[in-house]
Amino acid sequence: MCGIFGYINYLVDRDRQFIIDTLLNGLSRLEYRGYDSAGIAVDGDKKNEVFAFKEVGKVANLRELIIERKPNMAKSFESHAGISQTRWATHGKPSRQNCHPHRSDPTWEFSVVHNGIITNYKELKVLLESKGFSFETETDTECIAKLAKYLYDQHPDIEFTVLAKAVINKLEGALGLLIKSVHYPHEVIAARRGSPLVIGVRTSKKIQVDFINVEYPEEGTLSADQASKDIQKSSATLLAPPDKSLLHRSQSRVFLSDNGIPQPAEFFLSSDPSAVVEHTKKVLYLEDDDIAHIHDGQINIHRLTKDDGTSNVRTIQTIELELQEIMKGKFDHFMQKEIFEQPESIINTMRGRLDAVNKKVTLGGLRQYISTIRRCRRIIFIACGTSYHSCMAVRGVFEELTEIPIAIELASDFLDRQAPVFRDDTCVFVSQSGETADSLMALRYCLEHGALTVGVVNVVGSSISLLTHCGVHTNAGPEIGVASTKAYTSQFVAMVMFALSLGEDRASKQKRREEIIEGLSIVSDQFREILKLNESIKDMCANLFKDQKSLLLLGRGAQFPTALEGALKIKEISYLHCEAVMSGELKHGVLALVDENLPIIMIITRDNLFTKSLNAYQQLIARGGRPILICNSTEPEFSAAQTEKIAVPKTVDCLQGLLNVIPLQLISYWLAIGEGLNVDFPRNLTKSVTVE
Ligand code: G6P
Repeated sequence: MCGIFGYINYLVDRDRQFIIDTLLNGLSRLEYRGYDSAGIAVDGDKKNEVFAFKEVGKVANLRELIIERKPNMAKSFESHAGISQTRWATHGKPSRQNCHPHRSDPTWEFSVVHNGIITNYKELKVLLESKGFSFETETDTECIAKLAKYLYDQHPDIEFTVLAKAVINKLEGALGLLIKSVHYPHEVIAARRGSPLVIGVRTSKKIQVDFINVEYPEEGTLSADQASKDIQKSSATLLAPPDKSLLHRSQSRVFLSDNGIPQPAEFFLSSDPSAVVEHTKKVLYLEDDDIAHIHDGQINIHRLTKDDGTSNVRTIQTIELELQEIMKGKFDHFMQKEIFEQPESIINTMRGRLDAVNKKVTLGGLRQYISTIRRCRRIIFIACGTSYHSCMAVRGVFEELTEIPIAIELASDFLDRQAPVFRDDTCVFVSQSGETADSLMALRYCLEHGALTVGVVNVVGSSISLLTHCGVHTNAGPEIGVASTKAYTSQFVAMVMFALSLGEDRASKQKRREEIIEGLSIVSDQFREILKLNESIKDMCANLFKDQKSLLLLGRGAQFPTALEGALKIKEISYLHCEAVMSGELKHGVLALVDENLPIIMIITRDNLFTKSLNAYQQLIARGGRPILICNSTEPEFSAAQTEKIAVPKTVDCLQGLLNVIPLQLISYWLAIGEGLNVDFPRNLTKSVTVE
């Protein structure tokens, strides 16, 4: 996740100081979306000149850099377009070079800021390199600016929107995008596909109507289908200037004065309304595949295809929310927001990597090492906290698909024992932050012993991601709540994809691999299903767990790690003692605690251990225990009305833990809320533990 922000003033005199301050303040509001580097592009002192400032770290660092560079802040602009971005790196480490905006060429003919991932950037890069472009960053975004220039150079008289459509039509993946160009001064293209984008509008006079018509290509003019199969062709056909008489020009009159003359206006483009509300309450949300053209005090919204089933108007809404509320969207806490983000965050983890149609997995960061890993003597997973649980959760699928011995280690314990590590070991370091001291020290220890090291890390450019030989970024986006939620499910998915890649060479595993890939492709929808249980879980927490001193969580096989993770969540934020017990171990001691009063949650979804789990269930019932069950929606065993159930959809056994953990995250959240606790900042804990 990254934050993009743009500011356009039309016939409103603003000096450079104001413009830069507006951009930087916007970025500060979006910093929660990413904070490893930030940059802006504004007009320079001369015609066709662009000033770009980029700096590693937080927006405050960028502000300092601009002060150091001393641009003439008093220079004023009657009309101007500025764009900016705060980055959460996915392709290329945080550095001035990789930081947005990206440029088409050294003179910045086209400048681009982007939020999302362009999955076909490598193909585009190869094509553009063959046309003489040389790339200067490791990012996926740079190809957008270069592609725009390439297409523009073929047809210098082309309209900005036609050019933008041609560019966007070539891009695969997710985008929230702003494009600025010296060829179209004071104009910006804003496009959205999968990443949010909102446009705030400020005018001195009242806006006449509260909607904007969407413009579609007419027959015979530009259409998405017409978009050429390759750049070559597109420059010849697609970029032919459209026949204007055929274009359905429902130009928005929203911003025109009574006599039809454009009136002064300012536009604030942002990944999130939190950066807009301080300027205006009038906003318009772009929908997926909208391409907005902001020029001459107007907004035109275009679509690539006609009759694509979306509404033909975009409403200008008035937002009344407070800033803090908006940052968390409709949620009260970051943890809650992050729980509800999971249908999207796991998609981001799989984007461009899992091809569900052709049943293929491609992990670019591991490709060169996969065959070495296949030959290793064992794989040791090393992590702390929630990340350790995600390693435990995927142990079974690794053993099954790779047939390589798997060890799972708590980083601190691994170091305490000075455990033996060999040159033919593969050591996988799993960490949300990539900075956890125990994991980092264990990584150094393994490097000293000559093992191959792999990182499964969320934060790009973090120490673990830099020090490991290779790895996978989990791409879950920034996680702010101290209790880890979306990072867990993304780690889980990333590691299952890792196991699928390793097992690719085994014909005997092919059917199983396909089954798992199919399962992964619908997990996001299943998450959405489970999140609908939110209200009933909230009631359950108020009714069944209020004023309890202790709670047992039971699971077996792959569901034991789920129980461990659930128990950790409950302890962390609700401060209720909660113990995870392997169901098979119940009879060896813990059963002594069971009576009709002890609250128990039992994970008992269908897998090959179901009958054994059922035995444990019967043992509880026989002692008067009344476990609440997390079971499959279709499970006939527990139809009795007296059984409290949380029913989750069924998936492939090795992915079931992904679904089962969500009700436990919600339980921990509602338990903490019930106690009036600060969910995002639990006592005594921090998000990133950088001490031993
Ligand atoms: C801290 C956090 C946990 C996290 C653990 C490991 O204890 O509070 O939520 O699971 O560190 O962090 P990592 O960033 O390495 O995943």
